[in-house]
Amino acid sequence: MSRLLIKNAQIVTMNTKEEIIKGDLLIKEDRIESIGLSLKETIADRVIDASGRTIIPGFVQTHIHLCQTLFRGKGDDLELMDWLKKRIWPLEASHDEESIYYSAMLGIGELLQSGTTTIVDMETVSHTDYAFRAIAESGIRAISGKVMMDKGNEVPVGLQEKTAESIQESVDLLEKWHMYDSGRIQYAFSPRFVVSCTEELLREVQKLSTHYNVKVHTHASENKGEIAIVEQETGMRNVVYLDHLGLANERLILAHCIWLDEQEKQIIKERGVHVSHCPGSNLKLASGVADVPGLLDAGSSVSLGADGAPCNNNLDMFNEMRLAALIQKPIHGPTSMNARTVFKMATIGGARAVGMDHEIGSIEIGKKADLAILNLNHFHTFPSYDVDPISRIVYSATRADVETTIVNGRIVMEKGLMKTVDKETVLKEADASIKRLLSRTAIVS
Ligand code: GUN
Ligand code: FE
Repeated sequence: MSRLLIKNAQIVTMNTKEEIIKGDLLIKEDRIESIGLSLKETIADRVIDASGRTIIPGFVQTHIHLCQTLFRGKGDDLELMDWLKKRIWPLEASHDEESIYYSAMLGIGELLQSGTTTIVDMETVSHTDYAFRAIAESGIRAISGKVMMDKGNEVPVGLQEKTAESIQESVDLLEKWHMYDSGRIQYAFSPRFVVSCTEELLREVQKLSTHYNVKVHTHASENKGEIAIVEQETGMRNVVYLDHLGLANERLILAHCIWLDEQEKQIIKERGVHVSHCPGSNLKLASGVADVPGLLDAGSSVSLGADGAPCNNNLDMFNEMRLAALIQKPIHGPTSMNARTVFKMATIGGARAVGMDHEIGSIEIGKKADLAILNLNHFHTFPSYDVDPISRIVYSATRADVETTIVNGRIVMEKGLMKTVDKETVLKEADASIKRLLSRTAIVS
């Protein structure tokens, strides 16, 4: 049995009492064995001295596209439908197995280095097995799936799929990867958004997600043009349509949810649908500002995600937390979205969205050891005296303050050094991959 002892830390637990405990943290294999006791170094195989350091639960990002990391900087200053049609879809259509693998590794490197330990990830139409390989090797916890798109205008040939094939390929990937490595990897059906999917496909996804008891991850009500298309085609509001198909339930994760009416908010609340709020992406694509305070007041589940690299352009939870807090204050007043509310969304809230709040999202005995060690001893995070550590983390800290990241009891980054992702190779191959990919992409200007 291997034991890792982290000594003398300030532990921000995010347990139900939101306790902040000083002392040692003991990890046995993949789980937390004790918190706050002062333990002898000899009981562990490995000791990390965390004097003056702060331990937090690893961040859970509930909306990410690893397949888009290679497109960072390739889709700036566009609105959603143009961004998709002119840039992202042609680029995704040009992916090959190797480019998918390095796109995923590039994203995972960034995520692990900045303290994110769990992601809900949407891949592209093809080559998704290679994203799962990168996820498996890197050690990150992920709920991922191939995107499904069996309909739509101006979709490149490489992304057009037949309904039955889309479903078969999804099921094949699920059979191969769902619950891999004792559940560290899970599968989620990932219809892109209503605009890209036939009713037949969505009805089948509903049945399959019930049959396999897996998540459905999609985009909804991100953009006014998008919801106009949905209303024109279905005669219904976006979330009403998803509910009509039986998809609105606690297995559904909806990214964005900016343009909701009262009935849709009611459906989200009553059915226990999970909203993934993506403030950085929502601002950059000029999509709008989601009514997160309203959703939270109603008791709905809201968590955070950076979305893809080409609409953000980072995968950094510190950025998302800061934006999630600040963008609401001019609208709802300075007390809305305080640091604790936002930090909860980034940790235990994300865990709840993926149905794993009994396993991750807080530092508690018996839970999985998914955490980040922060060094807040910097000009930009001082003074520390009489300041709520959560205020320091949400409003002052940056990703450069993450010193060590642990997923499932495994150290994946230590003192800034990546243990499972070969940085030099990934940066080199990322450039080689995007170069190769661009040479066969018809970018529409
Ligand atoms: N809507 C449909 N596809 C996408 C995507 O890839 N990113 C975002 N942000 N919205 C979408
Ligand atoms: Fe997205």
